[in-house]
Amino acid sequence: MVTKGLEMVKCGVVALYFLWLISNRFGFVVSHGDINEVHIPQQFQRTSYHFHPLKNWMNDPNGPMYYKGIYHLFYQHNPNGAVFDSKIVWGHAVSRDLINWAHLNHALEPTHPFDINGCWSGSVSFLHNNKPVILYTGLDSSFQQVQNLAIPSNFSDPFLEIWTKSSHNPIIVPPNGVERHRFRDPTTAWPGPDGGWRIAIGGQTSYGGAAMLYGSEDFVHWYQSRFPLYSSRDSGNWECPDFYPVKLNGSNGVDFLNGSRVGVVKYVMKASLNSHDYYTLGSYVPEKEKFTSDSGDGFDLRGTNLGLRYDYGKFYASKTFYDSSQKRRILWGWVNESDSREDNIKKGWAGLQVIPRKIWLSKTGRQLIQWPVKEVEKLRTNHFSLYNKELRGRSTMKVLGGSASQVDTEVSFEFPYLEEAERVDTRWFDLDPQLLCSKRDASVNGRVGPFGLLVLASNDLSEHTAIFFHVLKAHNRYVVLMCSDQSRSSFREGVDKTTYGAFVDIDPRHEKISLRTLVDRSIVESFGAKGKTCITSRVYPTLAVDDDARLYAFNNGTQSVVISSLKVWKMSNAQIV
Ligand SMILES: *[C@@H]1O[C@H](CO)[C@@H](O)[C@H](O)[C@H]1NC(C)=O
Ligand SMILES: *[C@@H]1O[C@H](CO)[C@@H](O)[C@H](O)[C@H]1NC(C)=O
Ligand SMILES: *[C@@H]1O[C@H](CO)[C@@H](O)[C@H](O)[C@H]1NC(C)=O
Ligand SMILES: *[C@@H]1O[C@H](CO)[C@@H](O)[C@H](O)[C@H]1NC(C)=O
Ligand SMILES: *[C@@H]1O[C@H](CO)[C@@H](O)[C@H](O)[C@H]1NC(C)=O
Repeated sequence: MVTKGLEMVKCGVVALYFLWLISNRFGFVVSHGDINEVHIPQQFQRTSYHFHPLKNWMNDPNGPMYYKGIYHLFYQHNPNGAVFDSKIVWGHAVSRDLINWAHLNHALEPTHPFDINGCWSGSVSFLHNNKPVILYTGLDSSFQQVQNLAIPSNFSDPFLEIWTKSSHNPIIVPPNGVERHRFRDPTTAWPGPDGGWRIAIGGQTSYGGAAMLYGSEDFVHWYQSRFPLYSSRDSGNWECPDFYPVKLNGSNGVDFLNGSRVGVVKYVMKASLNSHDYYTLGSYVPEKEKFTSDSGDGFDLRGTNLGLRYDYGKFYASKTFYDSSQKRRILWGWVNESDSREDNIKKGWAGLQVIPRKIWLSKTGRQLIQWPVKEVEKLRTNHFSLYNKELRGRSTMKVLGGSASQVDTEVSFEFPYLEEAERVDTRWFDLDPQLLCSKRDASVNGRVGPFGLLVLASNDLSEHTAIFFHVLKAHNRYVVLMCSDQSRSSFREGVDKTTYGAFVDIDPRHEKISLRTLVDRSIVESFGAKGKTCITSRVYPTLAVDDDARLYAFNNGTQSVVISSLKVWKMSNAQIV
């Protein structure tokens, strides 16, 4: 039945798409009426308040920091096109508020034999006297991955515009037993028990995917530790490892340099692999120079034990930094496009960063919490709100009739008929939540759910992205599923429309379910249960754009739910120059 429905949607899609082209509503030239030859400029899909370079390709965030009153973000950038090219540079932008940005000259470009084929990802570390330096991976003249050091030419310049590469480069070359193509992305350094420095480097070793541990007295001469900081036997190559302390109690961030005492903090070990960012929580005993995961083998990729993820949608190669000005830890993450290489070339741009997220340990100690930095709220305008509104079974309610292509929305739901939730056999619970979300998408009528928001929705609802919850009962506990369903997000063909899903760690008997969603034209960032479960989606609507994008609340379960509060703000553009 579901499949049939989808087929019908598809036929409808082609017809509507054609009508849309004929009506030529965006003033595009329709060449000879042939759909395949139509050129779609797609500039209306360009985001307006997410960080991006002025044009061309961007991937990993690099070396984020706060220095002399200024936030810095570096990023992997191909200045010559909207596609990945290994001969990549470090783009550089500065900001006073993490939202409005000014681009500076590239910080690092391939210039020397140790990085002539590309300046790949890396980190900033603060040495004694608060002096920032960059460690990055260079693709050298023989295409092996080596680690290099760069130092600001003028530490007094708050913009740190010019970086000088160390004459000692390369400072670390691939050790024996490590593939020379899989040895990259040095972390921010932390102090070792001997007063020297420690860093981890991602790669693939005889231990499997690993964060290899290195030590140094002077930041120039490095030695490899016998054992990795952490590794996972059956996983592939690790990219962009990140390792940092989080407070056991409270949402303030902590740095390694102070406050990282046993019993006060836990440690986060993150690795990027298989297109996802996985993390595990654990302890780190400096004297033993070893990280130990609370869950034993951590994100071991054996079986289905994939560990926790920062984000269950499109999100990769992330990096945190400690913001000393506001005592918080901030997470950046790259969001790839979901359309094709050819589309990216046509658009002239590809790749975004998420709105930076404050990140801390949940009260339960079982997972991290993420929340968009409060500075993004400065872009909020035109507040709309409603309270205690019943959303009956199988109903849809228009929330914002005007332009909803750029909005920030917070909603929370109560469920008076929780006990009516569908029972599922435990086999289901063992399943991948993403699979559950794809099988039970927004159009499937359940009991307590699916209910949630339809964002970037066209007036007739033919196009929309559904972010929703579904409460199920497995054994004698409730299971809350959060989904982001892209299957009807665009009439464009050839766009990745995977439905994403994850479980939310709450007990709906005692808690409401909240959802915050940031919509910015072609990106939808959703935070379930106040940041416990995050899902980021890229979508490319063709009808639901500019003034024609709408926001709805919907409930396709048979049971009523109550919107206890709903707030929506239109978002103005960030200044990115
Ligand atoms: C270094 O930066 C400071 C602050 O911007 C500036 O006043 C000074 O002239 C710079 N020094 C050099 C040698 O460029
Ligand atoms: C956590 O912090 C709160 C407020 O600072 C304090 O009242 C509480 O005792 C702390 N709990 C623990 C377990 O340290
Ligand atoms: C470390 O933290 C303590 C308490 O927060 C503070 O008094 C001290 O000055 C800090 N030390 C450094 C080196 O920042
Ligand atoms: C980016 O997304 C495209 C389209 O979904 C996909 O084909 C490609 O593999 C992705 N690239 C990376 C590096 O994740
Ligand atoms: C809700 O269910 C109805 C009836 O099955 C369906 O027509 C509608 O498309 C569904 N809503 C969403 C958002 O999928």
